[in-house]
Amino acid sequence: MGDKAAIENLTEAEARQELARLAEALGAANTAYHAKDAPEISDAEYDALKLRNSAIEAAFPHLKRADSPSEMIGAAPSDGFSKVEHQVRMLSLGNAFDEDEVQEFAQRIRKYLGLGAGAPLTFTAEPKIDGLSLSLRYEDGKLVQAATRGDGATGENVTANARTIADIPQLLKGAPEVLEVRGEVYMTHADFAALNARQAEAGAKTFANPRNAAAGSLRQLDAEITRARPLRFFAYAWGDLSAPLAETQMGAIRRLADLGFQTNPLTRVCDGPAALIETYNEIAEARATLGYDIDGVVYKVDDLALQHRLGFRSTTPRWAIAHKFAAELAWTRLEAIDIQVGRTGALSPVARLLPVTVGGVVVSNATLHNEDYIAGRDANGNPIREGRDIRVGDWVQVYRAGDVIPKIADVDLSKRPEAAEPYVFPATCPECASEAVREEGDAVRRCTGGIICPAQAVEKLKHFVSRTAFDIEGLGAKQVEQFYHDDQLTIREPADIFTLRRRDGANLTKLANRDGWGARSAEKLFDAIDERRKIALNRVIFALGIRHVGESASSLLAAHYGSWEAFERAMSEAASGEGAAWDELIGIDGVGKVMAASLVRAFSQEAERASIDRLIAHLEVQNTAARGAVESPVSGKTVVFTGTLEKMTRAEAKARAESLGAKVSGSVSARTDLVIAGPGAGSKAKKAADLGVEVIDEDAWIELIGAT
Ligand code: IVH
Repeated sequence: MGDKAAIENLTEAEARQELARLAEALGAANTAYHAKDAPEISDAEYDALKLRNSAIEAAFPHLKRADSPSEMIGAAPSDGFSKVEHQVRMLSLGNAFDEDEVQEFAQRIRKYLGLGAGAPLTFTAEPKIDGLSLSLRYEDGKLVQAATRGDGATGENVTANARTIADIPQLLKGAPEVLEVRGEVYMTHADFAALNARQAEAGAKTFANPRNAAAGSLRQLDAEITRARPLRFFAYAWGDLSAPLAETQMGAIRRLADLGFQTNPLTRVCDGPAALIETYNEIAEARATLGYDIDGVVYKVDDLALQHRLGFRSTTPRWAIAHKFAAELAWTRLEAIDIQVGRTGALSPVARLLPVTVGGVVVSNATLHNEDYIAGRDANGNPIREGRDIRVGDWVQVYRAGDVIPKIADVDLSKRPEAAEPYVFPATCPECASEAVREEGDAVRRCTGGIICPAQAVEKLKHFVSRTAFDIEGLGAKQVEQFYHDDQLTIREPADIFTLRRRDGANLTKLANRDGWGARSAEKLFDAIDERRKIALNRVIFALGIRHVGESASSLLAAHYGSWEAFERAMSEAASGEGAAWDELIGIDGVGKVMAASLVRAFSQEAERASIDRLIAHLEVQNTAARGAVESPVSGKTVVFTGTLEKMTRAEAKARAESLGAKVSGSVSARTDLVIAGPGAGSKAKKAADLGVEVIDEDAWIELIGAT
């Protein structure tokens, strides 16, 4: 059917009809494949249809349809669930691991708010449920949408699945017009055991723990499967709201309970850190009998007006913290120590273990941190584990807390084999044989191979495609390795990803013939890559994998500079490590000198810079709207606070200014728009006056931003 002569013999009417038929057939095939995960035709049939469509379009270009299947790049959703942008970001929580850190949490809040030691400050304490968070949107009391957390900004639409969960009401009486209820989906121990038994009997996949079972059950493309899984839901927070629920956290939780949600019965109001710890102990004691997994206790400031004033750091609220339970422990044998080379060249020792179950999860690898840790000393040369070193063949104690990589805590010398030798840390890179050096003050030995080191390059690429960076569907760690070593479809640096699709389609055919790939998975990958050509600034900054520049720093930088052009210009101008651009960079709250130096180094090293430029040429980097994207008298302006503020603390003033879209800098320069000077302001106010920058006092500032 695809042959050329036959196509040229078609009349116009026949060609039009045939194109319509193909559009429909290919559309249906796409839906079956992408949205239902249930292909209806083979890859070969799909390719034949697509080829025929292109051939007819080539012969009759004027008949090409507006919905032509050959233009369907990125049209299909990248996976089965559609995406939901959260109206209010879904954040995570900071952690506290001991009582001191709980005290510090309360102290930080007092300091931020300027509350004296005698002023009351109450909290709530409640179990931290080990499940997955879900946001439920109700409009006029009706459940209209359920979304997973995703990366916090965008989640997956799992509405149909959520409707099958008995704990989730479909209709609310007396709720605000708009109400987003947030909470945790989880599975009880009993339901988990029964589910795994059923799965095993049916020869289906079993789950490692209740949390994985809950996540796997919620994220089913067929909601009927979710319905058959015993999921539950506790409500503990909210997002978008048309009217406040209450004046306090506890009041809001009671209101949610009145509306028909399950709320945790162990939730308590506490008048300070001592009461928090008491509740923590009470909950820890109840843990074994709850029948579901919890991994800590969450503390929240009870007064919602104070919560509002405290606001958020880039990814966590200032007004809440998770006090985690101590990690789970187990003993096992250390069978080998492997060295992995990371994206910044760090040589990281990994313990290969005789597999052991720690808190319900089988562990066979753990981190050993660095060479000092193995040798039994800390970064300052002081003994750890009373100086006991770790050797291959030793019995070691493994622990894991939450989702983090398991660690080795201790070693049992009584079980050490006689032949065990002290471990000698390599002085060369195991991947590229370049010298591995340890710089003064650095705990880590690093490969000096730079981009010639394949391990560094591959790790940089893995980081680049990771979930919080470019997140390209179908291009994960495994595929990146494959492409790195492929001599025709080569990806050696991020820019190569975006030149993979060729106009002539040649690479598509090549990829379709690779092991593990087919015509449609190849097409799907190219579409997923195209989808990421347009991408948010913070993701781009993070994806570059610059040492010390993590996810939250990337968001800070994006919020500060707003556009790639401004960011890039600033990094170039700051290269000398002094001057206005440098001062501005280190003036950003959360950017220290070490990070700043690392950033400007990346932009001034020729090879790295060239690689960044090649990447950017393929992208449409989306500007970051000023934080909160609010129109305010100070949005987009650079402000400097100096002297003493009397109505609020410096930290609060700064956070408030930033939430109104201003940039807060620590030093006055020609770029400063406004200086807020309190009593005792010195050289900064003078410099502002010299530069002709407007200077106002705190009252004028408060009037300007409309704060009370
Ligand atoms: S409050 C803005 N309360 O823990 C803070 N989170 O590590 C919103 N979680 O993403 C979260 N139990 O999935 C809160 N009682 C609880 C929780 C809880 C479990 C989860 C939640 C969150 C994660 C942060």
